Amino acid sequence: MNKRTVVLYQSKYGSTKQYAEWLGESLGAPVFSIDGFSPEKLVRYDLVIVGGWIRIGKITCADFIAENWNLLKDKQVVVYSVSATKPGEPEVLDFYKSSFPLALRERIRFFPLWGRFRSADMADKFLMLVPKTALRIKLLLAPTEGVRSRYQGITERFDHVERTALQPLIEYCKSLEVL
Ligand SMILES: Cc1cc2nc3c(=O)[nH]c(=O)nc-3n(C[C@H](O)[C@H](O)[C@H](O)COP(=O)(O)O)c2cc1C
Repeated sequence: MNKRTVVLYQSKYGSTKQYAEWLGESLGAPVFSIDGFSPEKLVRYDLVIVGGWIRIGKITCADFIAENWNLLKDKQVVVYSVSATKPGEPEVLDFYKSSFPLALRERIRFFPLWGRFRSADMADKFLMLVPKTALRIKLLLAPTEGVRSRYQGITERFDHVERTALQPLIEYCKSLEVL
């Protein structure tokens, strides 16, 4: 049976939105920004995919999910994150863990994706001063690949947004449809 699916996202510089649009195309699902989406509409769906970007160690869509958990708890919930940190680095799991309590993590299927960084507005540049300094110190004391990738992610331009990275998420959603 086909699951009634929706893709929701929160994006500031476009990469999380780009992934959401590709997901919508591949799954034949409607795509909405969380900002302006009325949570009551969640009753229409069985499978809810929510994408957020990592902003100073937290997934931006986490508050939306926690606030609307009553409406989501009986559905299949998939979360994807988009970050400067390469998926697979332990830091990405730390972001996920600090964004959602265990009770929610047990019910969520999580897919980390790699993002893009081209420019930041003044407010974000200011916000990044603290993690930049902290990461610079970490780089001196413990220069792991994860720390290096996070540091590069907020100091250098990069674009790792690729449609093929969505394949595991799409396959997972399609596997639910035949249940
Ligand atoms: C203010 C700010 C804070 C960020 N903090 C982190 C972070 O803590 N860890 C990380 O891996 N990436 C971080 N990033 C990188 C973003 O997660 C990445 O650029 C993402 O692709 C942005 O998503 P968007 O294009 O949908 O807005 C940060 C970017 C900005 C602008």
